[in-house]
Amino acid sequence: MAILVTGGAGYIGSHTVVELLNQDHEVVIVDDFSNAHPTVLDRIKELSGKDFSFYELNLLDKEGLEKVFEENEIEAVIHFAGFKAVGESVEKPLKYYHNNITGTLVLLEVMKAFNVKKIVFSSSATVYGMDNKAPFTEDMPTSATNPYGQTKVFIEHILSDLVVSDEEWSVILLRYFNPIGAHESGRIGEDPNDVPNNLMPYITQVAVGKLEQLSIFGDDYETHDGTGVRDYIHVLDLAQGHLSALDYALKHSGVEAVNLGTGEGYSVLDVVHAFENANDVEIPYEIVDRRPGDIAVGYADATKAKELLGWEAVHSLEDMCRTSWNWQKNNPNGYEE
Ligand code: UD1
Repeated sequence: MAILVTGGAGYIGSHTVVELLNQDHEVVIVDDFSNAHPTVLDRIKELSGKDFSFYELNLLDKEGLEKVFEENEIEAVIHFAGFKAVGESVEKPLKYYHNNITGTLVLLEVMKAFNVKKIVFSSSATVYGMDNKAPFTEDMPTSATNPYGQTKVFIEHILSDLVVSDEEWSVILLRYFNPIGAHESGRIGEDPNDVPNNLMPYITQVAVGKLEQLSIFGDDYETHDGTGVRDYIHVLDLAQGHLSALDYALKHSGVEAVNLGTGEGYSVLDVVHAFENANDVEIPYEIVDRRPGDIAVGYADATKAKELLGWEAVHSLEDMCRTSWNWQKNNPNGYEE
């Protein structure tokens, strides 16, 4: 029996696949390389010493997806595939709604047709919106301020409705906080398509000399140093969280939303200084205006993950900074040779 991983060539997907293979799961990856590079597949093989099946496919291709289910005995799905750039989603809402929501609907229809009813979904802390106060707990109301976030909120609803309609479904909605860091080997890591939107890939590209300086979006928030506070989580902890969620989904039915965070908040300046100290490099920065849509403070209440899944984050901010830099330094142009 195999685990189907949609978006398995992406940043979080690739780290999760390595862990799945290390734990002797059979893996089938579906990815359309819209935000991933084929080289990652060789690196996954190299790191795990194991093979897997791969299909270059977008989830909107229903016939192609049916073939994947015909050719493999799929036991459960970990669903990462989706567009994730907040700014682009505001400019191209139809692109985001169609790809992320319709793509998920097609996946669910095919799963249903093949009687595969276990899914772990990549949701996001973005579903806590602007109105909740950290620490965020899973029972808080969800909302979003941009199309990308809306797709996460809607898909959570779609999956929850599915469980209401048929109690055999088993759904875990994993709400990721801010994933950073990379595999210890420096062979896989985050490789953004364009100029990075997120903090850590921006910092590493400044450190490697591809970008001149970091712009810090506001220093007048109500936080200890005025810069925004987030819950940064090592991508390897996140990958382990998927393994724990998968174990749980295989043994239970119903729907559970679970935060994957450390429960600890760090400011932008905390991260900059941690990066400089861990790696002995300097990150020039300037303070600019706030970025629209940013909240001041977001971090998880990580209790539920521990109680329900027996999972908790173990890596420090220093680990995250060190491995992010190790990846970037060894692969200045990402997976592009
Ligand atoms: C962002 C998205 C969120 C998405 C998540 C996925 C926005 C508003 N939010 O979260 O919906 O789920 O990525 O990874 O885009 N910062 C800077 N300078 C930079 C980049 C970031 O100062 O060049 C600051 C931000 O203002 C924030 C912190 O760093 O305080 C983290 O930002 P980022 O890495 O983009 O994550 P989020 O905004 O938390």
